[in-house]
Amino acid sequence: MPTLPRVLATRLMPDAVETRFRAEFDAVGNDADDALDAAALADRARGCQGVICTPTEKMDAAAIAALPDSVEILATFSVGCDHIDLDAAKARGLIVTNTPDVLTAATADITILCLLGAARLGQASEATLREGRWGRWSPTFQLGVDLSGKRLGILGMGRIGQAVAKRAAGFDMTVFYHNRRKLDSSDEHGATFCADAADMLRQSDFLAITCPLTDETRHWLNAERIALLPDGAVVANTARGPVVVDDDLIAALDSGKVFAVGLDVFDGEPKFDPRYLDRPNAFLLPHIGSATVETRNAMGFRCLDNLAAHFAGHPLPSRVV
Ligand code: DGY
Repeated sequence: MPTLPRVLATRLMPDAVETRFRAEFDAVGNDADDALDAAALADRARGCQGVICTPTEKMDAAAIAALPDSVEILATFSVGCDHIDLDAAKARGLIVTNTPDVLTAATADITILCLLGAARLGQASEATLREGRWGRWSPTFQLGVDLSGKRLGILGMGRIGQAVAKRAAGFDMTVFYHNRRKLDSSDEHGATFCADAADMLRQSDFLAITCPLTDETRHWLNAERIALLPDGAVVANTARGPVVVDDDLIAALDSGKVFAVGLDVFDGEPKFDPRYLDRPNAFLLPHIGSATVETRNAMGFRCLDNLAAHFAGHPLPSRVV
């Protein structure tokens, strides 16, 4: 029997994925699911031809340089690749793959949840109930704002942005988007392209951030851009925390410029700006955009498919570099 390729998984994966991983590879798993810094990762990867990593491992130039020479392929259990220095990977001849498509629906769903959860003050309302502070029904209690029929701006019209636009149509929203390029009309789902982000922001009663984190999008939502939003706008970020300037967003929440925020991602997560916790108009989730059984299985299987294709010499389902 041919020797199976040796592959390290830096994190414990869902059961169905672990089962296939152990059947198809000489698997070096991480049952303890402990955090691996670059040195520990390189140590565990000794003798491995492949590594499955996740956004919790910062695969910067130093971490990539520390990988044993035997490692040919890095399969990230994510669509986002901002934790990987792709230039360093390329320079070293390291193949990188990711998991697009399979998490689009789940992440678009959570974007709608963040928009609605924020607009309807979901977390503050639930806290009222859990903490036994619910008094009588009242015409003025916990008043949110309607989502239906409003205008939505989408920053980043990739697969997830497009899936959000599709869902927004079900809420009779008028959708605008800002993206590096205008999409074919069949991919716009009725949304209008704004080449100038300011045009989109001025019309965004709701703003959904669904772009990748790049040098261009880091700290994109700052005070200057927030000022362009209509008063009382609602902002959701399900992309990456650093796209937003927390100080500026919190100031806008406090002034009422922004009515509420729905955040699934945070700068420096799992740490985050604790001031959000004190804001009743902040609907907060711990980066669970793709966290469903079906989606996480599909993401894991996509990692395994990429690895299997590489070792069989076949084209890779989702190669990044
Ligand atoms: C990704 O895949 O990049 C997500 O953020 C993980 O849910």
